[in-house]
Amino acid sequence: MKRILVTGATGTVGSHVVSQLREKDVVVRAGVRAVERACEQFGSDVECVHFDFHKPETWGAAFEDVDAMFLVRPPSEGRVKRHLTPAIDAASRVGVDHVVYLSVLGAEKNPLLPHHRIEDHLRDVDVTVTFLRASFFMQNLSEVHREDIAARDEIFVPAGEGTTSFVDARDIAAVGVAALTEVGHENCAYDVTGPEALTYDDVADTFSAVLNRRIEYTRPGPVAFTTTMYRRGFPLTFVVVMLGIYTTARLGLAGRVTDDVERVLGRPPRTMREFVEDHADAFRKESPRTTSSQ
Ligand SMILES: NC(=O)c1ccc[n+]([C@@H]2O[C@H](COP(=O)([O-])OP(=O)(O)OC[C@H]3O[C@@H](n4cnc5c(N)ncnc54)[C@H](OP(=O)(O)O)[C@@H]3O)[C@@H](O)[C@H]2O)c1
Repeated sequence: MKRILVTGATGTVGSHVVSQLREKDVVVRAGVRAVERACEQFGSDVECVHFDFHKPETWGAAFEDVDAMFLVRPPSEGRVKRHLTPAIDAASRVGVDHVVYLSVLGAEKNPLLPHHRIEDHLRDVDVTVTFLRASFFMQNLSEVHREDIAARDEIFVPAGEGTTSFVDARDIAAVGVAALTEVGHENCAYDVTGPEALTYDDVADTFSAVLNRRIEYTRPGPVAFTTTMYRRGFPLTFVVVMLGIYTTARLGLAGRVTDDVERVLGRPPRTMREFVEDHADAFRKESPRTTSSQ
């Protein structure tokens, strides 16, 4: 039976890749840093093995007998040449045939992005590749921005009036699972977007309608965003990366919509409304957390 290694298996997209692969006729291996916790999370039908990009001694056992791999660059990992490309080389050397890589929309045009360098490297090694160039995840709203919505009734991002083609991580995972388990996706690149380009005013309206209370998009400028997020306890480097991402939206560069999800899955991608309905509990009204810096 085909054995598939999922890196980033505890993360936003990887966790859905693992759960969707479990429905298929394959052996699922989760490459994780905390094995015990992952075994509890995934249960006994998933092989949980120690895998750390920073620990080459973990790579051999993780890649052994693996036919295909779902590859996620941890968001904090900027040192591509030091940790990512050597791991890719090792996977190729021990016979991993196919790598499905979670990239980012527009990576092919922007050599400054780590995703661009990883795509280039994957093309140079002896593996079949599929690139999932994903748009902005809807799940950023239920993870990084959840508390703003639940406790402050606001969406606080510096995206101006730009649009974004938000995509649900469950759909990205579904495209990845298709690429890992079906033929016809070899050496393809998919621009994985949601079905519509939305401004944050549109997003706030959707939240308001589904949650039945007013959620405001408060449109902070770059300075107000940076200082407020820093005061709320987010690390400055993380805030600066977010600022870069939202500036892309502000400049109108994040709104491209494609039909790649529908072409691969035979159904349209989930809408923002479906996402908010499915996660409504996470946004239930709560009191703001009080921190000493607020
Ligand atoms: N957010 C977006 O809107 C967006 C859009 C397009 C593309 N992307 C790209 O998607 C990727 C992130 O995907 P995600 O959001 O699904 O991930 P995520 O939720 O941030 O999770 C990161 C995963 O990486 C694992 N990890 C961290 N350090 C590791 C290491 N040294 N060795 C092995 N595994 C390690 C974590 O495992 P632990 O449990 O061990 O911490 C976790 O499973 C990034 O490359 C990002 O640029 C994001």
